[in-house]
Amino acid sequence: MRSFAITDEIRSYAVEHGSWQPDEVVRRLQSDTLALGDAAGMQVGDDQGQLLTMLTRLVGARRAVEVGTFTGYSSLCIARGLADGGSLLCCDVSEEWTALARRAWAEAGVADRIELRLAPAVDTLRALPEEPHLDLVFIDADKPGYAAYWAELVPRVRAGGLLLADNVLWSGRVAEPDDTDRNRTALREFNDLVAGDDRVEVVVLTAFDGLTIARRL
Ligand SMILES: C[S@@+](CC[C@H](N)C(=O)[O-])C[C@H]1O[C@@H](n2cnc3c(N)ncnc32)[C@H](O)[C@@H]1O
Repeated sequence: MRSFAITDEIRSYAVEHGSWQPDEVVRRLQSDTLALGDAAGMQVGDDQGQLLTMLTRLVGARRAVEVGTFTGYSSLCIARGLADGGSLLCCDVSEEWTALARRAWAEAGVADRIELRLAPAVDTLRALPEEPHLDLVFIDADKPGYAAYWAELVPRVRAGGLLLADNVLWSGRVAEPDDTDRNRTALREFNDLVAGDDRVEVVVLTAFDGLTIARRL
């Protein structure tokens, strides 16, 4: 097995060899997000954005949900991968951060396929139809909420659809025994929950900050 540290150079190289390059809208969104300070670290990278678009296309997604939208980069990548007539429901609680998202969606010409609900995500998810109507979901909000989002979303994803969850390796610290960090504890419990869930088959990618890819059975 080979592994190596991912430098900015190798990440750029990888992105440059992918099909979708960050355009002017993305570059502006990234610089506006950077101006927010430390919070900017929550934004997915270009390589993960490319993967989100690819996975959205691979499942031919028409109905998608994102839990944790922030300034909108990951939602933009999902929206760009949707099949014709597809739509994405975005869940967040921040009016301020999602104002940047709304602007980017409009500039990118995808605003008509995205609906944003500003409310605790668990309330938004509970209000969705209960039958399996979703093709793809991306969980990237508060870590202690992941288990509740999973519980609401799994029954609503159709067979063959995907559930994605971000940051599941928590900078590589998730397997450390110290349980005093609330986020790390929540992610450990979440990863155990997913691994033991016989409604899905799962891969945990060691790329990015750890990405769970679960296919609904
Ligand atoms: C890691 S950021 C999302 C990053 C985004 N996916 C991206 O790549 O740009 C987490 C987001 O979850 C939102 N959030 C936190 N708690 C939430 C909750 N209970 N319900 C909905 N959204 C929540 C925050 O406001 C924040 O925008």
